[in-house]
Amino acid sequence: MGAGSASAGDVEVLHWWTSGGEARAANVLKELLEAEGHGWEDFAVAGGGGETAMTVLKSRAMSGNPPSAAQIKGPEIQEWGELGLLGDLDAVAEEGGWDDLLPETVAEVMRHDGHYVAVPANVHRVNWLWANPDVLEDAGVEMPTTLDELFSAAEAIREAGYVPLAHGGQAWQDATVFETVLLASAGSDFYQRALVDLDTEALGSEQMIEALETFKRLREIMDDGMSGRDWNIATSMVIEGEAGMQLMGDWAKGEFTAAGLTAGEDYLCAAAPGTADAFTFNIDSLAMFRVTDEAELEAQRTLARLVLEPTFQEAFNLAKGSIPARPDLDMSEFDSCAQQSMKDFQRTAEEGGLVPSMAHGMAVRADIQGAMFDVVTNFFNDRDMAASDAAQRMVNAAQAAL
Ligand code: GAL
Repeated sequence: MGAGSASAGDVEVLHWWTSGGEARAANVLKELLEAEGHGWEDFAVAGGGGETAMTVLKSRAMSGNPPSAAQIKGPEIQEWGELGLLGDLDAVAEEGGWDDLLPETVAEVMRHDGHYVAVPANVHRVNWLWANPDVLEDAGVEMPTTLDELFSAAEAIREAGYVPLAHGGQAWQDATVFETVLLASAGSDFYQRALVDLDTEALGSEQMIEALETFKRLREIMDDGMSGRDWNIATSMVIEGEAGMQLMGDWAKGEFTAAGLTAGEDYLCAAAPGTADAFTFNIDSLAMFRVTDEAELEAQRTLARLVLEPTFQEAFNLAKGSIPARPDLDMSEFDSCAQQSMKDFQRTAEEGGLVPSMAHGMAVRADIQGAMFDVVTNFFNDRDMAASDAAQRMVNAAQAAL
């Protein structure tokens, strides 16, 4: 359908892309949709990680009025599919050859009951460390590659007068850091057993307790002002040279990019200490709700088609910090962090080490994820809770879910 076609319709899109880098990325899709003659009704719900957005989505759906498209990810796509609320994108998928374009790991998340109901925008990597090179230099340290090096670099950074690790004290950010520390201290097989398969033996094990203890030690290298801070404010502390480092997924790169900075020069990226051979993936996707109006349906299909086309995949991901969801695209325009991400994604998919992010809704259903967030954040903020107690609470949460 070209611009001005008779069936031009609107798509209301619910998402949580509201930081500087995220908004630039979302705008790519809005402009492409409008260029095809359809309207974009923006339904942005602020709040990193999307918890608030999902709450708002539920209440809209319960009142019988869901938006036509929403950013829904991982196992949650199945939950919405089971409710019978999602529209079928098979016709668009077939025409666009999605089965051939997408790696099967990605495609299977997008299908419910064998039918495409969502389209992937990207692949984010969660286990990254970001750093300000001037701060590192001033402190006389290199990018840490192990957890021990992270703690010793942090000490030097603090002595040089900076905040070692920028962090925002919000449950999803605590969980983001926790899963990365678990990956570093216990490895990707253990991560898979504990946070994906919810194996109670792994959850209650000595390795889990150790990881929890290391995670809590990270408080010592954060600052007192972290409580409630948004993730992009933490990133701006690294950008401004107030803090040395941040552990965060590569949407942080969207902030560095929006600030006009160059990877490898103005800021540094590396796999989070101790996780070079692993990749926690987080795929953003848009699911379409069932609609009956012909024009709206046409607009939805156009949106779904655009999302997998090279123009969108390239422009969106350059701004977002992620890599394209389809592996066949030319990566030469992408920076060194994205190239590294693409290489590691493919390597870990083949050799092992590729695991879904628990903190970003890729590993377990929303209710279990919520229970895990509670344990992680309560433990992190409670001076008196023992790591063994937190591990036991994880076991209980997993048992309640099975
Ligand atoms: C993630 C999402 C990313 C990014 C981040 C911070 O869950 O996948 O696209 O927006 O939250 O909000």
